[in-house]
Amino acid sequence: MPHREKEVELIVNSLASSVGVMEGLVLIRGEPGIGKTSVAKLSSKRLESRMPGNLRVVHVNCRTYRTPTSVIQRIASSIMPGIPDRGLSYQEMTLMLEKALSKENKDLLVILDEIDYLRDGDSLVYTLLRLHEGEAPKSPTLIAIARWDPPYMMDDSIRSFMVTRMSLEKYTPEQLETIVRYRAEVGLVDGSYDDEIVKKVVELSEHTGNARVSLKILYLAARLSEEVGLSKITPDMVSEAASRIGVIGITDDYLTSLDLHDKILLLSAAKLLSSSDRSWIKMGDLLEEYKLLCEEIGVMPYKYTAVWKRVRNLRRIGILETKKSGEGMKGQTTLISLGSIPADKLSKKLKEILREELSPLPLF
Ligand SMILES: Nc1ncnc2c1ncn2[C@@H]1O[C@H](COP(=O)(O)OP(=O)(O)OP(=O)(O)O)[C@@H](O)[C@H]1O
Ligand SMILES: [Mg+2]
Repeated sequence: MPHREKEVELIVNSLASSVGVMEGLVLIRGEPGIGKTSVAKLSSKRLESRMPGNLRVVHVNCRTYRTPTSVIQRIASSIMPGIPDRGLSYQEMTLMLEKALSKENKDLLVILDEIDYLRDGDSLVYTLLRLHEGEAPKSPTLIAIARWDPPYMMDDSIRSFMVTRMSLEKYTPEQLETIVRYRAEVGLVDGSYDDEIVKKVVELSEHTGNARVSLKILYLAARLSEEVGLSKITPDMVSEAASRIGVIGITDDYLTSLDLHDKILLLSAAKLLSSSDRSWIKMGDLLEEYKLLCEEIGVMPYKYTAVWKRVRNLRRIGILETKKSGEGMKGQTTLISLGSIPADKLSKKLKEILREELSPLPLF
């Protein structure tokens, strides 16, 4: 995995031992599309190949399994199929998992992906790390993946289990170029692209630092070229693919499908962020800007609680990011950012969409 070998090695080396995998917790954090899931999967594959037949790896996406009970159910049933998927309490489910583990002669490594989505994550992580105190011979090893640092990871009770904690950074344009070139080599027919194509894909996606966006553009450009019977991808096809995917990492279709007030709220955030050089804005300022925009457009603004719900929802779908203000600010407030989405580009796009949606109202 280009540019992530060091991280993979670090995880493998800190978890491998002569008697199986070490118990404990690895935390990988960082923004979307920077290889967190891939690093976790590749590391566990390497660990598996070091101890063939002696390690079971279970990958759980917490976006799908959002409660501790459902995660434990998912893990237990991958060891012992047939465990009921409802009707059992958290305690009963945990006992089931302990029982399953006590019958198994393998170590268990659980990847808890997108752990931000998990309700009561602290309780789940704590329970899993301490399974050995019950019937299980050994606790599972955990690789937790998060976009934002879950605050409980720093609690003493959990931190003492932390083996490695790594933050991955966004890819630089040079790194994206190696990645796109590598993936083109593996995935495309020889002669169907050239270096100009690789460079163009990177040029149109480098502001995101997100490999998924680059690779989606490459993939779609290849599909589009194939559809019209070309045997080579052309630069125009790359531009077309990028505009369909949305140079901001969110497709235009997706933005268009958002509810009017979500669009206004996002536009408010984008306006505030592009007019300043800060990367975070205060919830209060966002609310003010949102009210102003609603007035300008002529719709009734929602009140604080409803707006806050929307912000949380936009965060859940990965468009906004939020964090608590730290020291140095009066009182605690929530800060909001657009993560890797460029504010000026988003603002321009949303204005276009809103103009169309609200026409013939004069706007902006
Ligand atoms: N270094 C790399 N080399 C090759 N492909 C990569 C690399 N990094 C990421 N990718 C590819 O980019 C895509 C996104 O990577 P991945 O799913 O690991 O990101 P992520 O950080 O888990 O993103 P998210 O937060 O959205 O889940 C995948 O298709 C993956 O194969
Ligand atoms: Mg991922």
